[in-house]
Amino acid sequence: MNKKHTILITRDMPPRVEARALSNYDARLNREDNIYNTDGLIAAAEGADGLLICGTEPMTPEVIARLPSSVRIIACFTAGYDHVDLAAAEARGIVVTHAPDALTDAVADITLLLLLGAARRAGEGEAIMRGGGWDDIHLLFMTGAEIRGKRLGILGMGRIGRAVAHRARAFGMEIHYHNRSRLDAQLEDDAIWHEDAASLLQCADFLSLHCPSNEASRNFLNAERIDQLPEGAIMINTARGDVVDDEALIAALQSGRLRAAGLDVYRGEPGNIHPGYARLANTFLLPHIGSATVKTRTGMGFQALDNLDAYFAGQAPPNRLI
Ligand code: 8YV
Repeated sequence: MNKKHTILITRDMPPRVEARALSNYDARLNREDNIYNTDGLIAAAEGADGLLICGTEPMTPEVIARLPSSVRIIACFTAGYDHVDLAAAEARGIVVTHAPDALTDAVADITLLLLLGAARRAGEGEAIMRGGGWDDIHLLFMTGAEIRGKRLGILGMGRIGRAVAHRARAFGMEIHYHNRSRLDAQLEDDAIWHEDAASLLQCADFLSLHCPSNEASRNFLNAERIDQLPEGAIMINTARGDVVDDEALIAALQSGRLRAAGLDVYRGEPGNIHPGYARLANTFLLPHIGSATVKTRTGMGFQALDNLDAYFAGQAPPNRLI
């Protein structure tokens, strides 16, 4: 019988993912589910053929340089791969894969939750109910924004952007998008393409970010771009925190230039996010739970294992990045 390959799984996985990994691999688990520091990660990876990592393990050039030579593949549990320095991995001949398919619906659902929550002031309402401070109903109490007939600007019309568009259409929103290139008519589905981001921003009553985090998108939503949005626009972020300039967004929410924001992702998450967001009443905040359903997280883990299985069987991993 062939010896099983050894993989290090850096965080707790959904039960079915863990069971599959244990049956097909000599799988090293992190039973405490703590976040490895670099020394801990390097020690745990000793002799492993592959790593199955999450966003909590940044694969910087320094970490990649120290990985044991046995490690030939890094399979990301995540769709986003901004935590992996692909050039450094490529330079060491390490294959990197990601898991882009399973989370589309879950993240699109959370986007609509944030959009509605921000528009209808759900966070404020929840706080009132939990604080026991609800003692009156008057006609201007908790009035929010309606979404029917409003323009939703989607930055990044990939799988998740299109799933958001599909849902938002059912709420009567008009869909606009900016993407590197225009989609074909079937994928576009009557959404209105904007060749440049400024043109999208100028019409976006609601702006939803669905672009990857990279050199080009970092700090995309800065003070200058916020000024291009209509007065009182609402912005939603389920992509990555560093696409937004926190100071600029918080200033715009404080002044009322933007009406509200619905956020699931933050620069410095989880422990070091800008404290200004939680102080504002017009933010609706979630702790990066876009993909957090058992079905989706299981699907993501399976996709990561599919990539490992293919690689170790000498085939091309379906979601190979490099
Ligand atoms: C992560 C995510 O899965 O996949 C991504 O890119 O941002 C999330 O869905 C989650 O943070 C667990 O690592």
